[in-house]
Amino acid sequence: DWTMANFVDQEVEKIRELVGDRKVLCALSGGVDSSVVAALIHKAIGDQLTCIFVDHGLLRKYEGDMVMETFRDGFKMNIIRVDAKERFMSKLKGVSDPEQKRKIIGNEFIYVFDDEAEKLKEMDFLAQGTLYTDIVESGTETAQTIKSHHNVGGLPEDMQFELLEPLNTLFKDEVRALGLELGVPEAVVWRQPFPGPGLGIRVLGEVTEEKVEIVRESDAILREEIQLAGLDRDIWQYFTVLPDIRSVGVMGDARTYDHTIGIRAVTSIDGMTSDWARIPWDVLEKISTRIVNEVDHVNRVVYDVTSKPPATIEWE
Ligand code: XMP
Repeated sequence: DWTMANFVDQEVEKIRELVGDRKVLCALSGGVDSSVVAALIHKAIGDQLTCIFVDHGLLRKYEGDMVMETFRDGFKMNIIRVDAKERFMSKLKGVSDPEQKRKIIGNEFIYVFDDEAEKLKEMDFLAQGTLYTDIVESGTETAQTIKSHHNVGGLPEDMQFELLEPLNTLFKDEVRALGLELGVPEAVVWRQPFPGPGLGIRVLGEVTEEKVEIVRESDAILREEIQLAGLDRDIWQYFTVLPDIRSVGVMGDARTYDHTIGIRAVTSIDGMTSDWARIPWDVLEKISTRIVNEVDHVNRVVYDVTSKPPATIEWE
């Protein structure tokens, strides 16, 4: 009869048979799908798997280190972390249009990945966390962007991968269950959706390191307080945005003229529509006070009370 443990055994057997003594490359984003696919393939073939984790410098606080702790230290996987912050920042300089930013980040992600993959000559398979639903609609994981790219022949001529997509019969909730069965930490399995362009689309307009830092620090406070309040599983997505407007405030005896942080928190089933989350006011107050006190150059916090539609979840 069907159990998750049996499913794992079956899939492990299938992967071993298919791969043999060849090698598999996987783009790990830290998201649920790529994490679970990496864990599954690692269970099947161990050191024959190599993961590339591209850190574009637009991740949330501690995120990159957590990915390394989980997979390199925990699972003992071969994993290459590519610190590509400078590459992304220089490409984003002077760019303020949201779609342009998305395109630049998406393309640069592929270039960085390809550069790293090229250094590892003898890879035979490319593993992807493609889910059943991704076949119908486009996914939200960073790794998905690789798929469309590689499928249209964007790889260098001499690099030829076979695709390995062991999750492509599964729905999201089954992937989570599979992840838990494989020992993927709950924090990863239940991670809120995070867009591929990362904090790059939460700094409105031109992306600078200073602005990314303000979003990253305020977001860390928001996430900590939401978790402390026990609301993290009830809210679909919660994050901060930097609208890049300044307003007047007062700190001690001094007038300030500084940034505003927007808090976005929504409930949703699938991200297609959403409602703004009714976070208790005392929780909001704590978040607001902490952000203004602890994050430099922020003197005001506002809460987004718009549903989708007409607004989108992200501000860009
Ligand atoms: P919107 O803002 O369109 O977001 O209401 C719906 C869901 O999609 C995520 N999102 C993205 N994910 N790349 C991604 O991988 C993107 O460019 C992107 N834009 C939005 C968003 O976080 C939400 O979960």
